[in-house]
Amino acid sequence: MSEKHYDINYLQNSRRLLVNLKEASYTYFNNINTGSIVDLGCGAGKDVIELAKIVGKDAKVIGIDHDPVMVNQGNEDAKNISNVEFILSEAYPLPFADATIAGFRTERVVQHLKEPQKVVDEIYRILKPGSPFVIIETDWHSLTFYTPFVEVQKKINSYLTDAKINNGFAARKLTGYLKHSEFNDIKLEIHPFVLSTLDEANQYLWVEKMATEAAENDYIANNEYKQFYTALQQADDEGYFACSINLVVVTCIK
Ligand SMILES: C[S@@+](CC[C@H](N)C(=O)[O-])C[C@H]1O[C@@H](n2cnc3c(N)ncnc32)[C@H](O)[C@@H]1O
Repeated sequence: MSEKHYDINYLQNSRRLLVNLKEASYTYFNNINTGSIVDLGCGAGKDVIELAKIVGKDAKVIGIDHDPVMVNQGNEDAKNISNVEFILSEAYPLPFADATIAGFRTERVVQHLKEPQKVVDEIYRILKPGSPFVIIETDWHSLTFYTPFVEVQKKINSYLTDAKINNGFAARKLTGYLKHSEFNDIKLEIHPFVLSTLDEANQYLWVEKMATEAAENDYIANNEYKQFYTALQQADDEGYFACSINLVVVTCIK
């Protein structure tokens, strides 16, 4: 299937869009003064570094990612920061003993997992009782364009949720995973984002790439791709481009 829908540059761009949501997610951990907080699938580690600034001075933030390029960048950026560590690891198993971790965060990662329930159970295993767990996920099925080519847009949505992304409906399943693992106090927030230029949509969501891949993978015909993308460009030229997507935040306590 197709290549990844992110790289370090994509994560930096999308950070500009999501920065308020990210900062709000750090506040669940700001009363933690000792112990370790984990950010799973931390990418190049910017959230790890920012989170480390707001936790107590004896607390440490550990970024985990299975991509050495991401972990190397995190280590480089954090080389002078004492309460940050990066570990190259898969999401399962996690390299921690039972009930040893004081808080857990994971953003835009559950969508990539082949066995998400197993990973959520693993997070439950390593968290201390009473510790917070925060998940941010992209609801790819909510991606909508202001376009009359609705059938093409539906097929692009199907390409994303059914083929491109391992767990394309992850955002809709989060509360179910948490209930199954017996987390408590589960809360859900939906955050809609609206992009009003094609340039933004391409920077933050890689729209042209997703439509091109949908055509390459026979989810849409080449003429449908051309009609759809030309209509988006025309809407953009005329000042009425609009694209929206929801981010889901789920919080809970072990
Ligand atoms: C879309 S990026 C999100 C990065 C970061 N959380 C952020 O919001 O900027 C997904 C990250 O999860 C990592 N990842 C995906 N599957 C993983 C797995 N099974 N184990 C560990 N890391 C994983 C990828 O390498 C990538 O860095």
